[in-house]
Amino acid sequence: MRNRSTAPTTGGGFSAPGYDFSAPVYDATVEVPYTLEADRLLQRLVLPPCPAILDVATGTGIALFRAVERFGPVRLAVGVDQSIGMVVAAQAKATQRGLPAHFVPAQAEHLPLPPGLFDLVVCANALQWFSDRAAALAEMFRVLRPGGLLALSCAVEPCCREWWALLQRVLVLLGLGGKWVPPRLPGLDEPAHFALRCGFRISELRPVAWRSVIRDHQAFARAMAVVAPPWSHGLTPADLDLVGAAMHRLASLGGAGNGFPVTWAGAELIARKP
Ligand SMILES: C[S@@+](CC[C@H](N)C(=O)[O-])C[C@H]1O[C@@H](n2cnc3c(N)ncnc32)[C@H](O)[C@@H]1O
Repeated sequence: MRNRSTAPTTGGGFSAPGYDFSAPVYDATVEVPYTLEADRLLQRLVLPPCPAILDVATGTGIALFRAVERFGPVRLAVGVDQSIGMVVAAQAKATQRGLPAHFVPAQAEHLPLPPGLFDLVVCANALQWFSDRAAALAEMFRVLRPGGLLALSCAVEPCCREWWALLQRVLVLLGLGGKWVPPRLPGLDEPAHFALRCGFRISELRPVAWRSVIRDHQAFARAMAVVAPPWSHGLTPADLDLVGAAMHRLASLGGAGNGFPVTWAGAELIARKP
């Protein structure tokens, strides 16, 4: 059995290794759906002219670039991410597009930014990976000015639960991840609960859910290795194909010959710092 690190939890979430490897192929995998998601979140906001915007766990900057395009000209646009690979990819995109955005490697739980600076903090598709979600929300509250807005989206339970369970069985069967456990996703109310505890006023909490059917397990495993790489960190492309093939066989044995249904679930939260 190969021994891979198991991403320990402290205070709720998981650490998120693997995103450095995702960075070069991230946009090709999710730019289209994540741009639509960012637009859905941002279109509900009203900001003052020339706002200062922060994107926490920015990845390749998809949500930050959409916010700059929607609310610009901006006074300041900053993206932070724990992955150096993501920060480098995002900064290269900003330069290429001539957009005035700065990207900084940092943990969401310890933002290297002064208090009260931003009119808007965005955090898209990332809270589920934070090792301390309460601390991250407290940091977002700290760096907002009074009256500033938080726009957050994240995966919540039971997002992809069927797939994680199948994956866990396959990793054990293939000897590729005996110690790996599926991520502990937040409950629907958890982001709002932590936000209220910091002092935010919640303007909107919206559940998002839909079902899809996986027909090509290898393609799906490759995509999940890019968007949710903690499970695949340390696996080779050949391992990933083995995992996909084994998932296909196991799902078919379980009667999912015509496709494997997966539940997607998320929360979208808009809150204001009083
Ligand atoms: C699924 S990606 C989302 C990226 C981007 N917000 C988007 O919507 O495309 C999750 C991102 O969260 C980052 N991340 C995970 N844990 C983090 C933490 N504790 N602090 C900062 N960034 C973190 C990862 O490096 C990764 O870039």
